[in-house]
Amino acid sequence: MEDILILAIESSCDETAASVVKNGREVLSNVIFSQIDLHTRYGGVVPEIASRKHIEKINQVIEEALGQAAVSLEEITAVAVTYGPGLVGPLLVGVSEAKAISFATGKSLVGVHHISGHISANYIEYPELEPPFICLVASGGHSHLVVVKDYGEYEIIGRTRDDAAGEAFDKVARAIGLGYPGGPKIDKLSREGNPDAIPFPRAKIAENEYDFSFSGLKSAVLNYLNSCQMKGEEICQADVAASFQKAVIDVLVEHSLHAVKEFGYDKFAIAGGVASNSSLREAFQRECEKRKIRFYHPSPVYCTDNAAMIGTAAYYEYRKGVRHGYDLNAVPNLQL
Ligand code: KG4
Ligand code: ZN
Repeated sequence: MEDILILAIESSCDETAASVVKNGREVLSNVIFSQIDLHTRYGGVVPEIASRKHIEKINQVIEEALGQAAVSLEEITAVAVTYGPGLVGPLLVGVSEAKAISFATGKSLVGVHHISGHISANYIEYPELEPPFICLVASGGHSHLVVVKDYGEYEIIGRTRDDAAGEAFDKVARAIGLGYPGGPKIDKLSREGNPDAIPFPRAKIAENEYDFSFSGLKSAVLNYLNSCQMKGEEICQADVAASFQKAVIDVLVEHSLHAVKEFGYDKFAIAGGVASNSSLREAFQRECEKRKIRFYHPSPVYCTDNAAMIGTAAYYEYRKGVRHGYDLNAVPNLQL
Protein backbone atom coordinates (compact mmCIF):
# COMPACT_ATOMS: atom_id res chain seq x y z
CA MET A 1 0.00 0.00 0.00
CA GLU A 2 1.20 3.50 -0.79
CA ASP A 3 2.30 5.65 2.13
CA ILE A 4 -0.22 8.17 3.37
CA LEU A 5 1.53 11.44 4.24
CA ILE A 6 -0.53 14.03 6.07
CA LEU A 7 0.47 17.64 6.52
CA ALA A 8 -1.39 18.73 9.68
CA ILE A 9 -2.02 22.24 10.97
CA GLU A 10 -3.13 23.25 14.48
CA SER A 11 -3.91 26.83 15.50
CA SER A 12 -6.93 26.62 17.82
CA CYS A 13 -5.41 28.54 20.72
CA ASP A 14 -1.94 29.97 21.30
CA GLU A 15 0.27 27.42 19.56
CA THR A 16 1.02 27.69 15.85
CA ALA A 17 1.86 24.13 14.90
CA ALA A 18 2.47 21.98 11.83
CA SER A 19 3.50 18.38 11.41
CA VAL A 20 4.00 15.70 8.80
CA VAL A 21 2.69 12.28 9.84
CA LYS A 22 3.28 9.09 7.86
CA ASN A 23 0.68 6.31 7.89
CA GLY A 24 -1.02 7.68 10.98
CA ARG A 25 1.54 6.91 13.62
CA GLU A 26 4.98 7.92 12.40
CA VAL A 27 5.73 11.57 13.15
CA LEU A 28 8.23 12.87 10.59
CA SER A 29 8.19 16.39 12.02
CA ASN A 30 6.41 18.24 14.81
CA VAL A 31 7.00 22.00 14.77
CA ILE A 32 5.40 24.15 17.46
CA PHE A 33 5.68 27.89 17.79
CA SER A 34 4.40 28.75 21.27
CA GLN A 35 3.01 32.24 21.81
CA ILE A 36 3.08 31.90 25.60
CA ASP A 37 5.59 34.73 26.11
CA LEU A 38 3.34 37.06 24.18
CA HIS A 39 0.30 36.42 26.39
CA THR A 40 2.00 36.10 29.79
CA ARG A 41 1.83 39.79 30.55
CA TYR A 42 -1.97 39.75 30.08
CA GLY A 43 -2.41 36.75 32.36
CA GLY A 44 -4.07 34.67 29.63
CA VAL A 45 -4.53 34.24 25.89
CA VAL A 46 -5.67 37.40 24.09
CA PRO A 47 -7.57 36.10 21.03
CA GLU A 48 -6.82 39.06 18.76
CA ILE A 49 -3.10 38.93 19.49
CA ALA A 50 -3.11 35.15 19.00
CA SER A 51 -4.79 35.47 15.59
CA ARG A 52 -2.28 38.02 14.39
CA LYS A 53 0.68 35.94 15.54
CA HIS A 54 -0.73 32.82 13.86
CA ILE A 55 -0.92 34.74 10.57
CA GLU A 56 2.65 35.91 11.00
CA LYS A 57 4.06 32.47 11.84
CA ILE A 58 2.00 29.88 10.04
CA ASN A 59 3.85 29.78 6.70
CA GLN A 60 7.20 29.54 8.43
CA VAL A 61 6.02 26.76 10.74
CA ILE A 62 4.63 24.77 7.80
CA GLU A 63 7.82 25.21 5.78
CA GLU A 64 9.84 24.00 8.74
CA ALA A 65 7.59 20.97 9.21
CA LEU A 66 7.92 20.01 5.54
CA GLY A 67 11.67 20.70 5.61
CA GLN A 68 12.35 18.59 8.71
CA ALA A 69 10.29 15.76 7.27
CA ALA A 70 12.05 16.14 3.92
CA VAL A 71 8.67 15.98 2.23
CA SER A 72 7.48 18.36 -0.49
CA LEU A 73 3.93 19.66 -0.87
CA GLU A 74 3.63 17.55 -4.03
CA GLU A 75 4.37 14.39 -2.02
CA ILE A 76 1.73 14.83 0.67
CA THR A 77 -1.51 12.89 0.41
CA ALA A 78 -3.76 15.30 2.26
CA VAL A 79 -3.74 18.47 4.33
CA ALA A 80 -5.46 18.30 7.71
CA VAL A 81 -6.49 21.10 10.04
CA THR A 82 -8.20 21.64 13.38
CA TYR A 83 -11.51 23.38 12.65
CA GLY A 84 -12.90 23.40 16.20
CA PRO A 85 -13.40 23.76 19.07
CA GLY A 86 -11.22 26.74 19.94
CA LEU A 87 -10.90 30.49 19.44
CA VAL A 88 -12.60 31.53 16.22
CA GLY A 89 -9.88 33.91 14.98
CA PRO A 90 -6.99 31.52 15.60
CA LEU A 91 -8.97 28.60 14.10
CA LEU A 92 -9.75 30.63 10.97
CA VAL A 93 -6.06 31.21 10.30
CA GLY A 94 -5.35 27.46 10.20
CA VAL A 95 -8.50 26.61 8.27
CA SER A 96 -7.85 29.30 5.62
CA GLU A 97 -4.25 28.19 5.28
CA ALA A 98 -5.23 24.53 4.87
CA LYS A 99 -7.86 25.40 2.29
CA ALA A 100 -5.37 27.50 0.34
CA ILE A 101 -2.81 24.66 0.31
CA SER A 102 -5.47 22.15 -0.70
CA PHE A 103 -6.71 24.43 -3.49
CA ALA A 104 -3.21 25.18 -4.79
CA THR A 105 -2.00 21.56 -4.74
CA GLY A 106 -5.23 19.70 -5.44
CA LYS A 107 -4.65 17.55 -2.33
CA SER A 108 -7.56 16.44 -0.15
CA LEU A 109 -8.66 18.56 2.78
CA VAL A 110 -9.52 16.89 6.11
CA GLY A 111 -10.95 18.87 9.02
CA VAL A 112 -10.22 17.48 12.48
CA HIS A 113 -11.85 17.90 15.88
CA HIS A 114 -9.29 19.23 18.36
CA ILE A 115 -10.27 16.78 21.11
CA SER A 116 -10.18 13.85 18.70
CA GLY A 117 -6.62 15.02 18.04
CA HIS A 118 -5.74 15.06 21.74
CA ILE A 119 -7.08 11.52 22.18
CA SER A 120 -5.26 10.32 19.05
CA ALA A 121 -1.94 11.54 20.49
CA ASN A 122 -1.95 8.19 22.30
CA TYR A 123 -1.57 6.29 19.02
CA ILE A 124 1.75 7.98 18.24
CA GLU A 125 3.91 6.28 20.85
CA TYR A 126 1.89 3.10 21.34
CA PRO A 127 1.80 1.30 17.99
CA GLU A 128 -0.14 -1.54 19.60
CA LEU A 129 -2.93 0.66 21.00
CA GLU A 130 -6.27 0.21 19.32
CA PRO A 131 -9.81 1.12 20.38
CA PRO A 132 -11.84 0.42 22.40
CA PHE A 133 -10.50 2.07 25.54
CA ILE A 134 -11.38 4.85 27.96
CA CYS A 135 -9.65 8.21 27.75
CA LEU A 136 -9.56 11.14 30.14
CA VAL A 137 -9.20 14.39 28.22
CA ALA A 138 -8.10 17.20 30.52
CA SER A 139 -7.13 20.44 28.83
CA GLY A 140 -7.61 24.16 29.24
CA GLY A 141 -11.10 24.04 27.79
CA HIS A 142 -12.28 20.47 28.41
CA SER A 143 -12.49 17.76 31.05
CA HIS A 144 -14.10 14.79 29.39
CA LEU A 145 -14.25 11.10 30.18
CA VAL A 146 -14.63 9.42 26.84
CA VAL A 147 -15.23 5.90 25.63
CA VAL A 148 -13.17 5.57 22.46
CA LYS A 149 -15.33 3.02 20.62
CA ASP A 150 -13.40 3.08 17.38
CA TYR A 151 -11.08 5.46 15.55
CA GLY A 152 -12.85 8.82 15.57
CA GLU A 153 -15.90 7.37 17.32
CA TYR A 154 -16.52 8.66 20.79
CA GLU A 155 -19.07 8.55 23.56
CA ILE A 156 -18.70 11.16 26.28
CA ILE A 157 -19.66 9.58 29.61
CA GLY A 158 -18.51 12.38 31.90
CA ARG A 159 -17.82 16.08 31.54
CA THR A 160 -17.19 19.10 33.69
CA ARG A 161 -20.19 21.01 35.00
CA ASP A 162 -18.23 24.25 35.23
CA ASP A 163 -14.47 24.87 34.90
CA ALA A 164 -12.17 22.56 32.97
CA ALA A 165 -9.28 21.06 34.95
CA GLY A 166 -6.69 23.18 33.13
CA GLU A 167 -8.78 26.29 33.69
CA ALA A 168 -8.76 25.57 37.44
CA PHE A 169 -4.97 25.20 37.36
CA ASP A 170 -4.66 28.54 35.54
CA LYS A 171 -7.05 30.38 37.88
CA VAL A 172 -5.51 29.03 41.09
CA ALA A 173 -2.02 29.80 39.80
CA ARG A 174 -3.07 33.38 39.21
CA ALA A 175 -4.61 33.61 42.69
CA ILE A 176 -1.46 32.46 44.42
CA GLY A 177 0.65 34.79 42.30
CA LEU A 178 2.33 32.32 39.96
CA GLY A 179 1.08 33.86 36.72
CA TYR A 180 0.24 32.35 33.34
CA PRO A 181 0.32 29.56 32.28
CA GLY A 182 -0.60 28.06 35.60
CA GLY A 183 -0.45 24.32 34.99
CA PRO A 184 3.31 23.85 34.57
CA LYS A 185 4.04 26.32 37.39
CA ILE A 186 1.78 24.55 39.89
CA ASP A 187 3.21 21.21 38.76
CA LYS A 188 6.76 22.39 39.54
CA LEU A 189 6.02 24.22 42.80
CA SER A 190 3.94 21.32 44.14
CA ARG A 191 7.08 19.21 44.30
CA GLU A 192 8.20 21.36 47.23
CA GLY A 193 4.84 21.42 49.02
CA ASN A 194 2.80 19.13 51.25
CA PRO A 195 -0.24 17.79 49.36
CA ASP A 196 -2.01 17.01 52.63
CA ALA A 197 -1.43 20.45 54.19
CA ILE A 198 -4.87 21.89 53.37
CA PRO A 199 -8.01 19.71 53.06
CA PHE A 200 -9.55 21.16 49.89
CA PRO A 201 -12.88 19.62 48.78
CA ARG A 202 -13.29 16.78 46.25
CA ALA A 203 -16.57 17.43 44.45
CA LYS A 204 -18.99 14.63 43.66
CA ILE A 205 -21.91 15.12 41.28
CA ALA A 206 -25.01 13.29 42.43
CA GLU A 207 -26.67 12.89 39.01
CA ASN A 208 -23.65 11.55 37.15
CA GLU A 209 -20.78 9.88 38.96
CA TYR A 210 -18.46 10.51 36.01
CA ASP A 211 -19.01 14.26 35.79
CA PHE A 212 -16.55 16.75 37.23
CA SER A 213 -16.81 20.11 38.94
CA PHE A 214 -13.81 22.26 39.75
CA SER A 215 -15.31 25.66 40.51
CA GLY A 216 -16.03 24.74 44.15
CA LEU A 217 -12.41 23.74 44.61
CA LYS A 218 -11.28 26.99 43.02
CA SER A 219 -13.53 28.96 45.42
CA ALA A 220 -12.20 26.97 48.37
CA VAL A 221 -8.66 27.95 47.43
CA LEU A 222 -9.69 31.62 47.09
CA ASN A 223 -11.49 31.50 50.46
CA TYR A 224 -8.45 29.94 52.08
CA LEU A 225 -6.21 32.69 50.68
CA ASN A 226 -8.63 35.41 51.85
CA SER A 227 -8.93 34.02 55.34
CA CYS A 228 -5.15 33.78 55.69
CA GLN A 229 -4.87 37.37 54.56
CA MET A 230 -7.51 38.55 57.05
CA LYS A 231 -5.80 36.73 59.88
CA GLY A 232 -2.46 38.13 58.80
CA GLU A 233 -1.10 34.63 58.30
CA GLU A 234 1.54 34.07 55.68
CA ILE A 235 0.57 31.50 53.04
CA CYS A 236 2.87 28.75 51.94
CA GLN A 237 2.50 28.89 48.12
CA ALA A 238 3.93 25.41 47.68
CA ASP A 239 1.51 23.84 50.18
CA VAL A 240 -1.49 25.54 48.54
CA ALA A 241 -0.30 24.44 45.09
CA ALA A 242 0.35 20.85 46.20
CA SER A 243 -2.94 20.54 48.13
CA PHE A 244 -4.96 21.99 45.24
CA GLN A 245 -3.21 19.76 42.72
CA LYS A 246 -3.82 16.68 44.85
CA ALA A 247 -7.53 17.51 45.08
CA VAL A 248 -7.78 17.74 41.27
CA ILE A 249 -5.79 14.55 40.70
CA ASP A 250 -7.76 12.55 43.31
CA VAL A 251 -11.03 13.34 41.54
CA LEU A 252 -9.67 12.69 38.04
CA VAL A 253 -8.16 9.35 39.10
CA GLU A 254 -11.19 8.19 41.06
CA HIS A 255 -13.76 8.99 38.37
CA SER A 256 -11.64 7.66 35.52
CA LEU A 257 -10.72 4.33 37.07
CA HIS A 258 -14.26 3.82 38.31
CA ALA A 259 -15.43 4.23 34.71
CA VAL A 260 -12.79 1.81 33.41
CA LYS A 261 -14.03 -0.80 35.87
CA GLU A 262 -17.75 -0.21 35.35
CA PHE A 263 -17.46 -0.26 31.56
CA GLY A 264 -15.26 -3.34 31.72
CA TYR A 265 -12.22 -2.10 29.82
CA ASP A 266 -8.61 -2.93 30.62
CA LYS A 267 -7.06 -0.02 28.73
CA PHE A 268 -6.98 3.57 29.91
CA ALA A 269 -5.41 6.64 28.28
CA ILE A 270 -4.93 10.27 29.20
CA ALA A 271 -4.77 13.30 26.91
CA GLY A 272 -4.68 17.10 26.87
CA GLY A 273 -2.41 19.68 28.49
CA VAL A 274 -3.19 18.63 32.08
CA ALA A 275 -2.12 15.08 31.18
CA SER A 276 1.45 16.37 31.08
CA ASN A 277 1.27 16.99 34.85
CA SER A 278 3.98 14.90 36.49
CA SER A 279 2.08 14.04 39.69
CA LEU A 280 -1.04 13.13 37.74
CA ARG A 281 0.98 10.76 35.57
CA GLU A 282 2.55 9.15 38.63
CA ALA A 283 -0.82 8.76 40.34
CA PHE A 284 -2.42 7.11 37.31
CA GLN A 285 0.61 4.90 36.78
CA ARG A 286 0.43 3.68 40.37
CA GLU A 287 -3.33 3.14 40.46
CA CYS A 288 -3.47 1.45 37.05
CA GLU A 289 -0.70 -0.94 38.08
CA LYS A 290 -2.64 -1.86 41.22
CA ARG A 291 -5.75 -2.60 39.18
CA LYS A 292 -3.92 -4.29 36.29
CA ILE A 293 -5.13 -1.70 33.82
CA ARG A 294 -2.86 -0.87 30.89
CA PHE A 295 -2.05 2.82 31.12
CA TYR A 296 -1.31 4.95 28.03
CA HIS A 297 0.13 8.44 28.38
CA PRO A 298 1.55 10.51 25.53
CA SER A 299 4.88 12.27 26.09
CA PRO A 300 4.27 15.79 27.45
CA VAL A 301 4.97 17.37 24.04
CA TYR A 302 2.06 15.36 22.58
CA CYS A 303 -0.22 16.23 25.53
CA THR A 304 -0.19 19.99 25.06
CA ASP A 305 -1.34 21.42 21.74
CA ASN A 306 0.57 20.13 18.72
CA ALA A 307 -0.16 19.25 15.09
CA ALA A 308 1.15 15.66 15.11
CA MET A 309 -1.94 14.57 17.06
CA ILE A 310 -4.10 16.26 14.39
CA GLY A 311 -2.22 14.38 11.67
CA THR A 312 -2.83 11.08 13.45
CA ALA A 313 -6.55 11.74 13.92
CA ALA A 314 -6.77 12.91 10.29
CA TYR A 315 -5.22 9.67 9.03
CA TYR A 316 -8.10 7.62 10.41
CA GLU A 317 -10.65 10.13 9.08
CA TYR A 318 -8.97 9.98 5.69
CA ARG A 319 -9.05 6.17 5.70
CA LYS A 320 -12.78 6.35 6.44
CA GLY A 321 -13.25 8.54 3.39
CA VAL A 322 -13.74 11.88 5.12
CA ARG A 323 -12.97 14.80 2.78
CA HIS A 324 -13.94 18.40 3.38
CA GLY A 325 -14.83 21.01 0.79
CA TYR A 326 -13.70 24.59 0.52
CA ASP A 327 -16.74 25.58 2.53
CA LEU A 328 -15.04 24.16 5.65
CA ASN A 329 -15.40 26.77 8.36
CA ALA A 330 -14.04 27.30 11.86
CA VAL A 331 -16.53 26.03 14.46
CA PRO A 332 -15.60 27.44 17.88
CA ASN A 333 -17.98 25.17 19.82
CA LEU A 334 -17.71 22.03 17.67
CA GLN A 335 -19.14 19.00 19.51
CA LEU A 336 -17.26 15.71 19.77
O1 KG4 B 1 -4.44 20.89 25.67
P1 KG4 B 1 -3.89 22.23 25.93
O2 KG4 B 1 -2.47 22.52 25.53
O3 KG4 B 1 -4.78 23.33 25.26
C1 KG4 B 1 -6.17 23.23 25.22
O4 KG4 B 1 -6.71 22.54 24.31
O5 KG4 B 1 -6.80 23.80 26.14
O6 KG4 B 1 -4.10 22.50 27.49
C2 KG4 B 1 -3.68 23.68 28.10
C3 KG4 B 1 -3.98 23.57 29.57
C4 KG4 B 1 -3.72 24.86 30.34
O7 KG4 B 1 -4.81 25.10 31.20
C5 KG4 B 1 -2.46 24.53 31.14
O8 KG4 B 1 -2.38 25.23 32.37
C6 KG4 B 1 -2.61 23.04 31.37
O9 KG4 B 1 -3.15 22.56 30.17
N1 KG4 B 1 -1.32 22.41 31.65
C7 KG4 B 1 -1.02 21.79 32.80
C8 KG4 B 1 0.34 21.38 32.70
N2 KG4 B 1 0.80 21.76 31.47
C9 KG4 B 1 -0.23 22.39 30.84
N3 KG4 B 1 -1.76 21.56 33.89
C10 KG4 B 1 -1.17 20.90 34.92
N4 KG4 B 1 0.12 20.51 34.91
C11 KG4 B 1 0.91 20.70 33.83
N5 KG4 B 1 2.17 20.30 33.82
ZN1 ZN C 1 -5.72 21.39 23.26
